[in-house]
Amino acid sequence: MDMSTIDWANLTFGYMKTDYNVRSYYKDGKWSTPQETTSEEITMHMASTCLHYGQEAFEGLKAFRGKDGKVRIFRLHENAIRMQSSSHGILMAVLPVEIFKEAVIKAVKLNDRFIPPYGSGASLYIRPLLIGISPQVGVKPSKEYLFVVFVTPVGPYFKEGFKPTPVAIYRQYDRAAPLGTGTIKIGGNYAASLVAGDMAHKAGYSAVLYLDAKEKKYLDECGPANFFGIKDNTYITPKSTSILPSITNESLMRLAEDMGMKVERRQILEEELSTFEEAGQVGTAAVISPILRVDDVEEDKSYIISKDGKAGPISTKLYNKLKGIQLGDEPDTHGWITIVE
Ligand code: PLP
Ligand code: COI
Repeated sequence: MDMSTIDWANLTFGYMKTDYNVRSYYKDGKWSTPQETTSEEITMHMASTCLHYGQEAFEGLKAFRGKDGKVRIFRLHENAIRMQSSSHGILMAVLPVEIFKEAVIKAVKLNDRFIPPYGSGASLYIRPLLIGISPQVGVKPSKEYLFVVFVTPVGPYFKEGFKPTPVAIYRQYDRAAPLGTGTIKIGGNYAASLVAGDMAHKAGYSAVLYLDAKEKKYLDECGPANFFGIKDNTYITPKSTSILPSITNESLMRLAEDMGMKVERRQILEEELSTFEEAGQVGTAAVISPILRVDDVEEDKSYIISKDGKAGPISTKLYNKLKGIQLGDEPDTHGWITIVE
């Protein structure tokens, strides 16, 4: 690939072929040492459990090139742990944290030329995935698994970047059940969100904001990101049994506390949206994507969040702090960074 053709500052959030991906197989109770390959293909049995019964989990994390030239991976350990929790949730073999880390670091190092330059605003998105690859016809877990890590350079998840966008509540759709799989990162949750997501995009919204599936009263999360609201110097984010525990959100809660703000993790009634001074979507891909307005489409209600169409001061401060730590411009006081040596 001719690297001079890459327009780093204008990358979208999409797939670009890189040089290598890294794989580890689980067989007879053992994981193989992570090995690189240049192949973008996976060959598997047609009766593999990932194809029929959804035994698939994935992660999403990022690596950044700093001003000092060093490459930093953000919260590698926490992503490894979350993938283990996804495995427990759908009865897959549990990948040791050390193999997760080794494979991610290897994939980042081997694709060094694809790590965007400092100052471009882009980053290297790391996508680990775990799938059941042995055949079953009855509904049973696989005996063998494949763990793959691929990377791809990305720009902002929402084309607007840090500019506020509107989100939609559609009451006829749920993403995850109250005691279902919403708390783990498995493909089925995203399949369940495609129809509503498509409806939202066609209507000009960046994402769907899901309500709790049982009572349809409380805010849950967005399709690809958690939700937060700000008022009275307080960072407020939903507590729910059906949302993904976002690692970026957890990081922002710590940064908000560091800044002297109060942090509340609790149920948020939809009506409370009218009281927020700022709100946003938060996640690895979304980073912080400020919310302009929330439309409860079927109820014909609208909550304006950003009155001037701009990101609010606290969201901006949190965003700059988070990016600063990720890029190495700010000290890593919480031990969130793995430097790739
Ligand atoms: N919620 C959902 C449904 C997601 O897909 C993601 C993305 O990973 C998040 C929240 C944010 O999680 P994290 O900050 O760990 O990337
Ligand atoms: C992420 O933020 O890493 C995600 O996984 C969100 C989306 C791309 C599925």
